[in-house]
Amino acid sequence: MELKGKSVIIFGGRTGLLGQALTRAFRLAGARPVPLSSQDCDILDPRGVDLLLDRRDPDLMVNAAAYTQVDLAEDQEEMAFALNATAPPLLASLAAKRLIPFVHFSTDFVFCGNKHTPYLPYDDPCPFSVYGISKADGERGLLRFGYERTLIIRISWLFGPGRTNFVDKILSLCETRGTISVVNDQTGSPSYTPDVAVNTLALLAHDATGIHHVANSGETTWHGLASEAVALAGLDCTVEPVPTSAYPTKAVRPAYSVLDLSRFIQTTGVTPRHWKQALADYVLGDLRRGSVI
Ligand SMILES: NC(=O)c1ccc[n+]([C@@H]2O[C@H](COP(=O)([O-])OP(=O)(O)OC[C@H]3O[C@@H](n4cnc5c(N)ncnc54)[C@H](OP(=O)(O)O)[C@@H]3O)[C@@H](O)[C@H]2O)c1
Repeated sequence: MELKGKSVIIFGGRTGLLGQALTRAFRLAGARPVPLSSQDCDILDPRGVDLLLDRRDPDLMVNAAAYTQVDLAEDQEEMAFALNATAPPLLASLAAKRLIPFVHFSTDFVFCGNKHTPYLPYDDPCPFSVYGISKADGERGLLRFGYERTLIIRISWLFGPGRTNFVDKILSLCETRGTISVVNDQTGSPSYTPDVAVNTLALLAHDATGIHHVANSGETTWHGLASEAVALAGLDCTVEPVPTSAYPTKAVRPAYSVLDLSRFIQTTGVTPRHWKQALADYVLGDLRRGSVI
């Protein structure tokens, strides 16, 4: 799909961590993004979304809105399922009515983490947190609905400008403490939102549909990611490795959720850069400039 001049509705595009990076990438590609927050348009109100689409007449719909609070979801199951499971197929049906492509984002947390090699797009989801189950239900709902112009992109461990994320939480903790503890027995693929956004556009340029995995290359633990960020920022702070059992959380997270990128690489011809390079851009670039996107 040629994006120049195209109108792109982005749910979550005004306030979301990923959505803001997508908005910027579409704008840089010459498209006309329409970034939205929940205040602009509630994706739980299909009639309202339909009217907005009539008004805007977009060429493409992107859903970067979701319920993303992994631990809180354990207590707010209804809201998590409404946003992550019920809304995506409803949005896809509104895209299908207009015959325009629909892009949706999912997560590495649809996997349970019992593999020791990267998860393929074709691996069966096996989630165990409410968040993971609701996101897997959203994927299943989209596949069941079967609109052929649907692109589902699983992503993982996001960091980037525009909204609080793991990396900036770690760096602010380290500004006030000499030592912090971070779990070192969960392994995943850290991903810089501007890279995910540009790679989403690469998939669209190749008219990709179905499920794809997008992340930065390489893998690490939360401890590895935190240590690298602290070193890049030049903070005098010790990052101690601890097991997950030392940091009980309401939601159980996969011990291993690295995403296999080979389908993305084959489709686009692009190999995402290593997460350490991307993290350097974030810590030494975005954060030094004051997180302005
Ligand atoms: N963050 C991660 O590490 C991560 C990892 C893997 C996958 N993902 C997936 O990536 C996607 C983007 O995640 P993110 O971290 O960028 O999300 P985020 O920063 O939490 O942003 C969520 C967005 O959804 C919007 N939203 C919430 N409820 C809505 C509603 N009822 N109607 C319309 N919009 C609503 C929010 O708007 P308001 O600001 O107005 O509430 C916000 O813009 C999600 O599908 C998520 O599951 C994220």
